[in-house]
Amino acid sequence: MWGGMKAYTPQLLLVNIFRGTYLLPSATQQVNKFMQHPQPELSDIRKKNLSNDQRVIYEQITQSAFICQKARGALYQIFCSLDETLGKTILIPAFHCPTVVQPAVLAGYKIQFYKINEDLSIDTDEVNNMINADTAAIVVIQYFGFSFKSDAFKETASINNCIIIEDWSHSFLQTSPLRLAGSNNSIATYSFWKIIPCVVGGGFINRTSKILNSTNYLKQSSTIENIKINKRIIESFINNSNSETLKNALAKFESFRKKRVTNSVNSSDNEKISPKETIEADHYPIEPSFFAKDLPLLSNALLYRADLELIARKRRENFNTYLELTSGINLITPYFSMLPDDVCPWAFPIVLENRNQFDFKLRKEGVPFFTFGEQLHPLVSDIKLISPEARKISQYLSNSTLCLSAHQKLNRQEIEISLDKAKSILG
Ligand SMILES: Cc1ncc(COP(=O)(O)O)c(C=O)c1O
Repeated sequence: MWGGMKAYTPQLLLVNIFRGTYLLPSATQQVNKFMQHPQPELSDIRKKNLSNDQRVIYEQITQSAFICQKARGALYQIFCSLDETLGKTILIPAFHCPTVVQPAVLAGYKIQFYKINEDLSIDTDEVNNMINADTAAIVVIQYFGFSFKSDAFKETASINNCIIIEDWSHSFLQTSPLRLAGSNNSIATYSFWKIIPCVVGGGFINRTSKILNSTNYLKQSSTIENIKINKRIIESFINNSNSETLKNALAKFESFRKKRVTNSVNSSDNEKISPKETIEADHYPIEPSFFAKDLPLLSNALLYRADLELIARKRRENFNTYLELTSGINLITPYFSMLPDDVCPWAFPIVLENRNQFDFKLRKEGVPFFTFGEQLHPLVSDIKLISPEARKISQYLSNSTLCLSAHQKLNRQEIEISLDKAKSILG
């Protein structure tokens, strides 16, 4: 699990920027197919007959979106491309993933955090009071793929020349009809790899009339990094296949490779890093390659061959199964008591106070879940940047949010079993 917020310093953030590692399981680790980020299987890359709605989405992505390897790269590109006549401050929700904040910091902006209420809604009065001529942009996180409207501060934003960035990283899809998420007159950011098994993939679309500075601030992805990602995708194909021979061969190759790497690290003093740095770096990676443009060959193929219709339908089905099976269970309090027609959910988030007393037991029993906002950006502890109330609530949300997986490959029976386990652990 990630460490607590207090243990996280700006220095460690920098360490992570340069030493981060991918969150994919290595070939020898057990593959959990319900992970936060879906892992590719060979069948995911087969060509499919896509519906018209899906073709429109893919056309929009190829023709209008800026594509890079992660949503944090897209955010960085946006912040660096904002017109210099705009203000110098970015407003960010107090409850967030640090990867939303760090790109703005790296792009040289001041940060102000605005309050998110306990039900994840925005304190729009606070936002209206915070926006002024120095506000370049406000980031609105669309938590778990639910639409959080900015209507209540649209006018103030427009008067102050402040751009609204809708962060749709949790789910880039909306349904009824199936479409690329986001509303008019805003910039929408996406993290494709959260619901499509493409391993990397993020981007943004600018639907405002404002022209972004066309200079690209992201670097071209390196061939070595691309080879590494393609290799991991192939490993995932093998680990998710039925061939024990291939799996064994891969495991042997991995253990041979690891031994060689360990030997060469041991023989070089320069390579030594302190255990603390290693742990932190593994838990919160932001590395330069995440700010790379374009996708590796296999990620690209996986992105454009995903059956979006099926993914959205299965995720909605799973969310509704959780709603049905958890109704009346006092121990489990969902954030959302219904699923609006237009939502393709990232997860089924619940409020679980003192989550850290239970999460390791749930994990041990194989209950598929992940956390969001467990670690807040270190700037949240700066009293000049956030109100006491906003900090208090964001810390509460940070400690109490648990996301039950709505992964498209999960079925009803598996959800029933995991909820039974969760009940006995929480009870
Ligand atoms: C709201 C939000 N935006 C952006 C990101 C960053 O996405 P990526 O991993 O594609 O950089 C995250 C990561 O979880 C997130 O939760």
